[in-house]
Amino acid sequence: MNKKLLVANWKMHHTRISAENYFANFFAALPAKLWADRVELVFAVPYTLLATVSTILKDKLGAVAAQNMHWLDKGAYTGEVSLPMLADLGVGKVVLGHSERRQYYGESDESVALKVKAALQAGFSPIVCIGEILGERQAGKTSEVIAGQLAAVFAQISTCKQLIIAYEPVWAIGTGLAATSEQAQEVHQLIRQIVTKKFPEDGSEVPLIYGGSVTSANIAELMQQAAIDGALVGGASLSGDGFAELVNSLL
Ligand code: PGA
Repeated sequence: MNKKLLVANWKMHHTRISAENYFANFFAALPAKLWADRVELVFAVPYTLLATVSTILKDKLGAVAAQNMHWLDKGAYTGEVSLPMLADLGVGKVVLGHSERRQYYGESDESVALKVKAALQAGFSPIVCIGEILGERQAGKTSEVIAGQLAAVFAQISTCKQLIIAYEPVWAIGTGLAATSEQAQEVHQLIRQIVTKKFPEDGSEVPLIYGGSVTSANIAELMQQAAIDGALVGGASLSGDGFAELVNSLL
């Protein structure tokens, strides 16, 4: 995979005005013609900004993604948002199983798997986050945790078309302590093995991206690893200038 997939995860940041400023700065610093054949960009934004950002990105390269969704199409689930609602806004991608959702909102491997299944069935591209916590890594359980998280998802799905997997070691998220490129490469290779075993025909095409304290200082080295197809970027994607600098460091 030559083009790198960069997903900006805005988490709970930005309003309509600040999003407009963001893209004004981003595109001023980095005209699309500079990066279009080198990177593919996705902006995972709060629900309230999906329509605004879709409009801003219309006729530009770059796609918008939601940060979560319910696996059912509709029902008495106060506060939830469904796939048809996202599709209605022209959204076709969704981040699922982010560790913050697992940690603060009780999302389990099983609920994440149901969401991935529903997203694929609806023709969405789910960006599925997996990764071990620090204690699990220290106990030598990283492979076991990764295999278990993938097994739960794979029990529910029969195709990997449109699937994207993000390896995000939880200890690296928002801590400034990114995995080393060797650590990331090692786990990405393991994920690739598991994915191609489950999907021998097209598992090799599933993008595997790394997330956790990616910055403009470390992204180039991480992206040089053969097994890493892109990055999921939180903190370093929050300003248009900063994210442009990060993309620029790859060009
Ligand atoms: P971070 O977040 O880049 O701020 O570590 C990554 C993520 O949570 O996806």
